[in-house]
Amino acid sequence: MQHPVESDPAATRARVSRLSQEQAADRLAWLVPELNRHNRLYHRESAPEIDDRTYDLMYRELELLEARYPALVREDSPTLRVGGDPVGHLAPFPHRTPMLSLGNAFSADELREFDGRIRRQLGEAAPESIPFAVEGKLDGAAVELVYEDGVLTGAGTRGDGAVGEDILHNVKTIRAIPRRLHGDPLPSRISVRGEVFFPLEPFEAMNDAREARGEKRFENPRNACAGTLRKKDPSFAAASPLTFYAHSFGEVEGLELPGSHLAQLVQLSEWGLPVNSDLNTRHPDIEETILRVAELGALRNDLPYEIDGAVVKVDDTALQAVLGFLTRTPRWAIAFKYPPPQVHTVLRGVEFQVGRTGKVTPRAILAPARVGGVTVSSATLHNADHLTRLDLRYGDTVAIERAGDVIPKVDRVIVDADHAGRPAVTYPDTCPACGTHLERPEGEVDIRCPNSLSCPAQLHAGLRHFVSRGAMDIDGLGTKLITQLLDAGLVRRPSDLYRLDVPTLCTLERVGQRSAQSLVDAIARSRDRGLGHALAALGIPEVGEATARDLSLWFGTLDAIMEASPEALAEVHGIGDKVAARVRRFFDDPVFRAEVERLRQAGVAFPDVPEERRTPRGASEDPDAEAATSPIAGRTFVLTGTLPTLARSEAKKRILAAGGKVTGSVSKRTHYLVAGDAAGSKLDKAKKLEIPIIDEAALLEMLGSIQPD
Ligand code: IVH
Repeated sequence: MQHPVESDPAATRARVSRLSQEQAADRLAWLVPELNRHNRLYHRESAPEIDDRTYDLMYRELELLEARYPALVREDSPTLRVGGDPVGHLAPFPHRTPMLSLGNAFSADELREFDGRIRRQLGEAAPESIPFAVEGKLDGAAVELVYEDGVLTGAGTRGDGAVGEDILHNVKTIRAIPRRLHGDPLPSRISVRGEVFFPLEPFEAMNDAREARGEKRFENPRNACAGTLRKKDPSFAAASPLTFYAHSFGEVEGLELPGSHLAQLVQLSEWGLPVNSDLNTRHPDIEETILRVAELGALRNDLPYEIDGAVVKVDDTALQAVLGFLTRTPRWAIAFKYPPPQVHTVLRGVEFQVGRTGKVTPRAILAPARVGGVTVSSATLHNADHLTRLDLRYGDTVAIERAGDVIPKVDRVIVDADHAGRPAVTYPDTCPACGTHLERPEGEVDIRCPNSLSCPAQLHAGLRHFVSRGAMDIDGLGTKLITQLLDAGLVRRPSDLYRLDVPTLCTLERVGQRSAQSLVDAIARSRDRGLGHALAALGIPEVGEATARDLSLWFGTLDAIMEASPEALAEVHGIGDKVAARVRRFFDDPVFRAEVERLRQAGVAFPDVPEERRTPRGASEDPDAEAATSPIAGRTFVLTGTLPTLARSEAKKRILAAGGKVTGSVSKRTHYLVAGDAAGSKLDKAKKLEIPIIDEAALLEMLGSIQPD
């Protein structure tokens, strides 16, 4: 996939300003579903694929595109919604006043623009300078608390902004949140909003304790927080070091609050609610505000909790009321987002880890350093190319970065006088787990251990994948038990799981009759997960749950997938040449074919997908009148390199809609090669075969007005 959006918001802005309406529509056709997908992953599945900053930047691009071409605002645009959907297993918690989110600013100039917008809107009523409150943007879960006559009677998550989930049972376990407010007079009803979060140190301690008990560490404080709050059983929240700061209001009845936001927060703290008064400040105008935002940015590495930005709010609540709201954000507040924090530390060593597909990933072992409030002692180095690009040497000082919830990474080497004389970090020749000679398949960045099913590291990771939720979903088969099964020689490949019986399992340490029986039952149940899950379970490199499902729905049967050519595979929406080649190579490998056969023998079903559920083949096989007359109908295209505006999947979709075909490799039958930036071997081949080479603009012209449905 093309990189979604530049990391520099100014570059995005410049690109968007050059897009024609049609190009903007194409970009939106990719961007909107992509943002919706990430929203769903974040809010519904608690399994984000991208870090917050990337999301924010993509969202920013969406706003820019929609501001430039308001006619293009799609009905499914996330700008028309307030948040994620409520999940549904807890009671609904309606918000009397919608719980909004905040617009983002990434630079001082954008804060000045924010001030300018406010002034324009206030017009004559605008004061000489507008005082702002600056607060830390806490990275936890937004929660609404309702107090009636001073008693905590309700608590809900944000949900979709209009309706959240009732989490009072969990909120009552948070010691920082008072069950009763103190003071006289008190409002007859008040809804207070704030952030429930994990302070960093208790979070680390809790994780260490989990690990010591053999449980999985939580990846990051925010997801752990949201997950804990949404549990039905309050004992999880009670055992967690969650805390709370109030930062805003829904509505207040039966009492006038002061006319300044910060004074209102002080009032809350007098009633007993925790407020982040150490950090909250007030500034006479936007320039002073900008200075404070920068200061807070420098401070944040030393805070006992994580902030990913600063929130700037018009302090005067009368002005707030005049300014009002947009669909999902107030006009009087904005979040300034900080770039991910970086620190320098020393590289002590490099470990090479073998994953489920044999991919060998280098991991930097670092002198422990605090970054973004967390102590980091290792970081990912991605792959061999990244190592080469970094020119990393043992003993080098490196800049490491930690973006919210993602794994820390080594960003660059701080080159000093001794750098050149230090020993370079290179890949080992043999697999650290099994000693087999490592390989780097042509044209790939990854280095692999080819000993697929016999390498203990791959086998362990492969089994973990096989039993995981998106694959066979076998409950009760954790990492420890997998290790025991492998060590005892009871399992050498996934298909062996189906031969396990209760007496055999009972020979393992700490496995009793009952747990053995429930494991055998869980394994038996996994035989019928459907084609998509069974395919995902095979562990084909690059083929996760979603791709496996796409393949299943497109081809309909396992045999069709196993026999498909790379070109046929690449016709599936979202599957590129690389993935197609991987799938082909996997099924060409006799070791894996044999394992598929063994799984079938063991009763694992790879059921055909009924015709009516399969993906319709669209215009390429059923050209409508318009498509048939297009210069594209019946022509075969190959896409290569990065196109300036279209994601490759989007270009492909539009060519298909126009009655053309898209294949993965250049041959004599190719009609056009569409080449973008960094086009490689396909371009050379097309030149050799004298195939016409066109750029994106020419493609767009050929496509004319034809849009996919
Ligand atoms: S004010 C109408 N202040 O950021 C304005 N929000 O995108 C409501 N957040 O999940 C929010 N720290 O819970 C505000 N000091 C702060 C905040 C803050 C964190 C969260 C908020 C929401 C998100 C807004």
